[in-house]
Amino acid sequence: MTRVLVVYATRFGSTREVASAMVHELNTSGLQAQAAEAGNSPAPENYDAFVIGSPLYGGKWISVAGLFAALMAERMKEKPVALFSMGALSIKNPEAGLAEHKEFLKNLCEVAPSLNVVADELFTGYFERSNLPWYLKIVDQFAPTPQGDHRDWVKIQKWSKSLVTKFHPAM
Ligand SMILES: Cc1cc2nc3c(=O)[nH]c(=O)nc-3n(C[C@H](O)[C@H](O)[C@H](O)COP(=O)(O)O)c2cc1C
Repeated sequence: MTRVLVVYATRFGSTREVASAMVHELNTSGLQAQAAEAGNSPAPENYDAFVIGSPLYGGKWISVAGLFAALMAERMKEKPVALFSMGALSIKNPEAGLAEHKEFLKNLCEVAPSLNVVADELFTGYFERSNLPWYLKIVDQFAPTPQGDHRDWVKIQKWSKSLVTKFHPAM
């Protein structure tokens, strides 16, 4: 049985629900998955494959998720790792959102070259204007980001399912 650890960071909780949906999909597909918050995750030695994700804030992952990926890279050894970002930029500007996600992953893989990344994806997230600090509320007035829950559960499910063969080629 392939044991998968889905590690996530979140500021407002919506990425935790995404991680739960991924765990559900992986388990339904015959793997043995569980989710853990990045700051509180179990030892990587007990797992065969990893999903690591975070929302983007100011173009970067929440630091605890990036730190988990970088500091645990050696302990994840050659095991497959899939990375995902959540973001709001891509709701109106998919190219800019994807560029931000790719840029962050490029930097992450530079500091952690032993990460065996087999897949990565950017998903649209859950954006609430009230969560912005006052100075970003001013910036946001000029090109408002659409508010609300933009999580694409079908895309999240499909991506999770697509990981099964990457994590366990015999399935
Ligand atoms: C202060 C702030 C900064 C943000 N910065 C970005 C960003 O740089 N790029 C992006 O795509 N989304 C950005 N977002 C949107 C969040 O990534 C998105 O709302 C995410 O789904 C929140 O996840 P969480 O509920 O797990 O914290 C930002 C949101 C806030 C409130």
